[in-house]
Amino acid sequence: MSSSQAWRVAVIGAGTISQRVHIPLFQKQPNTTVVAVCDVNAARAQAVAAETGVAHVYSDYETLLAEQQPDIAVVAAPNVFHKPMATAALEAGAHVLCEKPVALTYSDAQAMFATAAARQRVLTVGTHFRFTGPMQAAKAHAAAGFFGRIYAARTVWQRRNGIPGYGSWFTNRDLAGGGALLDIGVHTLDRALYIMNYPQPKRVSGVMGAEFGPRGRGLGGWGADIHSPSSGTRYDVDDLAWAQVLFEGGTVLQFQVAWAANYPENFVTEIFGTEGGARIGGQDSVELYSMLNGLEVKTETQLPPQKGSSYEQLIGNFVSRLNGDTQADIVTPEQALVHVKIVDAITRSASEGREIVL
Ligand SMILES: NC(=O)c1ccc[n+]([C@@H]2O[C@H](COP(=O)([O-])OP(=O)(O)OC[C@H]3O[C@@H](n4cnc5c(N)ncnc54)[C@H](O)[C@@H]3O)[C@@H](O)[C@H]2O)c1
Repeated sequence: MSSSQAWRVAVIGAGTISQRVHIPLFQKQPNTTVVAVCDVNAARAQAVAAETGVAHVYSDYETLLAEQQPDIAVVAAPNVFHKPMATAALEAGAHVLCEKPVALTYSDAQAMFATAAARQRVLTVGTHFRFTGPMQAAKAHAAAGFFGRIYAARTVWQRRNGIPGYGSWFTNRDLAGGGALLDIGVHTLDRALYIMNYPQPKRVSGVMGAEFGPRGRGLGGWGADIHSPSSGTRYDVDDLAWAQVLFEGGTVLQFQVAWAANYPENFVTEIFGTEGGARIGGQDSVELYSMLNGLEVKTETQLPPQKGSSYEQLIGNFVSRLNGDTQADIVTPEQALVHVKIVDAITRSASEGREIVL
């Protein structure tokens, strides 16, 4: 595949993330045109296409795939549709950027990546937080050996009031498959695993709950402006998940996500290594802890200028990979499968009340 190839992109699901993120960022890529957009809500697809200058509009993704034969498909519909849409797109010959969670179960994710491999297509996932400045700085320190052996980590994304799309598909188990664990859990896992170099999980203990959503509390955050509570009140998903994951070699990860909590917003990944530790926060900080000349030292990395937002880098790297850059950093099948394996095990552990041995 030559770097001069022109990429024709189709976007399936013309919702919040496609409108704000996928379409504008693919349109910024060289030799890349967003040719079509599809949504079951035809009026929404039409409005997004008109606003972003996309030529073709569909309300059925199979018709889109058959008529447009896109080189790249973006899957950005409610979670339950990720598997059928991504599979259809791969079978139609497209490379796929699938929104997270890539699938609702480990076996579904395995089947999707097997289809991608059989068709020799790239299937990747939109877990973009690894490309924030603090994460990239921490990764550079990890690659240079700053941490020594990483023996433990803690990764947290806890919102004060952040239940997305209350009453929409986000809080409807039939369409979302689950709540906070599937929605922000995969991002939160990727942040830690990326620095830890993706060890294989062996034992998982988790608890899940729904402390706020069922009472109509903790609403806000992503899509709150388009999914108002008046659109319905169905809420049958989790709003928190806590877990402990033990990996091959004995490394431990503590994991904590919540859409809502009576606690300040907390978005942090902490790394504990034999030679150094780090506290990796949101957009603007990575604190490093180590010993220097027998003294305890805390340093703060000055972040280098970023090549666009974290999502812009994810999309840029995906296109670079398709252009033949085998070193471009994307979420690989092996990495995405570890996310799903852990999420699957947390769900089983919580429902069965026992540790899951993988
Ligand atoms: N990577 C990230 O940081 C991130 C952020 C937000 C959302 N997401 C993911 O993106 C996906 C979409 O989220 P959103 O916030 O845009 O939701 P949204 O509700 O704003 O949009 C979803 C769209 O999908 C459409 N849709 C539903 N069924 C469809 C079908 N069968 N065919 C075509 N379109 C269909 C809906 O009409 C809606 O317009 C979800 O999987 C979500 O988890 C990822």
